[in-house]
Amino acid sequence: MFDLSGHVALVTGAGRGAGAGIAAALAAQGASVAVNDLVADRATAVAEQLVASGARAIAVPFDVTDAGAVAASVARISEQLGPIDILVNNAGVPDGMALVPFRDMTPEDWRRFVDLNLYGSLNCIREVLDPMVDSGWGRIVQISSGAGRTGIAFGVSLYGASKSGIEGFVRHLSQELARSGVTVNTLALGMLFNAVPDDAPEGSVAALGRSVPVGRLGQPEDVAAAVVYLVSDEASWMTGQTLNLNGGSTTD
Ligand SMILES: NC(=O)c1ccc[n+]([C@@H]2O[C@H](COP(=O)([O-])OP(=O)(O)OC[C@H]3O[C@@H](n4cnc5c(N)ncnc54)[C@H](O)[C@@H]3O)[C@@H](O)[C@H]2O)c1
Repeated sequence: MFDLSGHVALVTGAGRGAGAGIAAALAAQGASVAVNDLVADRATAVAEQLVASGARAIAVPFDVTDAGAVAASVARISEQLGPIDILVNNAGVPDGMALVPFRDMTPEDWRRFVDLNLYGSLNCIREVLDPMVDSGWGRIVQISSGAGRTGIAFGVSLYGASKSGIEGFVRHLSQELARSGVTVNTLALGMLFNAVPDDAPEGSVAALGRSVPVGRLGQPEDVAAAVVYLVSDEASWMTGQTLNLNGGSTTD
């Protein structure tokens, strides 16, 4: 089950964190993987690790919010690895994101979230979609957050709004594509291992983990396993869904 041999995946924001775990899991299942990140060194390091493990992988540093760079990079991936038939829109945390209440934000602050989580994902989807539809097979996974589904007083209102927006888009897209062989789903993640800032007081990770019903924060492997299922042949009847992956933090 879940054999991805012969498929070509693009994972955005895969230079670290959940995206690096997703890239590794897709490669382990046999996919060729294009490892994207805004930070070239991160993408290169992950791609080199995958190649060292025997996978077919390349680093493709680009900014997903730059439509021209996305188009050029997708063309390069197609030349080097073949047409992309798996897209994981994982990049979603703007560089240096801070927790800021709405009243303290400016319209420029809003734009960074909308640019990354809406336009960034749309740019990538747009470039890969026609070949997927033409071939009759494709998988798109959008990584979202519980903050897109529930109000929280953490200072993440625009982050949450941009995640809600792309989740809504994905639902519509799934219906437009339902007969094409292309599925589109969203994973709404709860707090991962890196949710606690490096300078947080000692014990913060454990304390936050205890607040999760299963008793720990999420790991890249938790996210990666769900992505492997969603992009598999076996998941062809799964489309248009937003799945919570959060250690039981919400149960709706
Ligand atoms: N970490 C959490 O607790 C958590 C919780 C819920 C949802 N999520 C979601 O999971 C996904 C991954 O989160 P993470 O914590 O692993 O992220 P992260 O910040 O650790 O890594 C994401 C990578 O994305 C890259 N990136 C940022 N902007 C980019 C751009 N414009 N173009 C290309 N790459 C870009 C960064 O350079 C970084 O290496 C995100 O969509 C995030 O919103 C994370």
